[in-house]
Amino acid sequence: MGVMHIPGHQNQKPGEVSLAEIRSVLGDCHLCPLGETRNQLVFGVGNPHARVMFVGEAPGKNEDLKGEPFVGAAGHNLDALLSLAGLRREDIYIANVLKCRPPGNRNPQPSEIERCSPFLREQIRSVWPDVIVCLGNFAAHFVLHTDAGIMSLRGKFYQTGHFAVLPVFHPAAALYHREWQQFLDDDFRMLGAWLAEHPAGGAR
Ligand code: URA
Repeated sequence: MGVMHIPGHQNQKPGEVSLAEIRSVLGDCHLCPLGETRNQLVFGVGNPHARVMFVGEAPGKNEDLKGEPFVGAAGHNLDALLSLAGLRREDIYIANVLKCRPPGNRNPQPSEIERCSPFLREQIRSVWPDVIVCLGNFAAHFVLHTDAGIMSLRGKFYQTGHFAVLPVFHPAAALYHREWQQFLDDDFRMLGAWLAEHPAGGAR
C-alpha cells in the first residue's frame, strides 16, 4: 500500500492535555458568530485513547440538538461503515472541524475554521490516535494541509508525522450520490485491513 509522507505534523506525543481540559477552555464559546445561532456546542465523543480518530465537518441539525457528533442520517451510514472496518463507536473518537452548526448546514467559512480548529488540533494531540480518518473535504484539508479534492485524495493512506491519515468521502455525501457509497465501503474495508496489519503497540 503506497503511503505519501506529508510534512508538518509532530512525531512525538506531546505532554497530555485531557479532553476535559480542552472542553473547559471552550466553555460557552463565542469566538465566532456561530455561538449565537447554535443550540449546543458539539465537542466530540468516544474513547479518549482511541487508535482511530474520525474528523467530520460540522454538526448538523440533529447533532446541534443532541450535542453529539454524527447522530443523524450521516451517523447511521457511519455506523454501517464502522462495522465494515471491524470497529464500534466505543472504539473510536469523533470530532468535527467546527464545534457549532453553521445555519442551514452551509459550508464552514475560513474565519470560523481559523477560530475553531485549534481546539480540534488539541483534541488530536490529546487522543494521539494512530489513524485519522478525514470525513470529507473540510477535514481532509485541515489535516493534510492541502486544497486537493476528496475524489483525488481518497483511496490511499498518507503519513503525516506520527499519524496515518485516510481521507474518505463524507458519509452524508453518499446519501445524495449513491454511486459514492461503494468508494466509502472500499475505504472502510481498507481501514480494517490496515488495523489488522498494524496491531496496537506493534512496530510501525
Ligand atoms: N456531519 C458532520 O460533518 N459532522 C457531524 O457531526 C454530523 C454530520
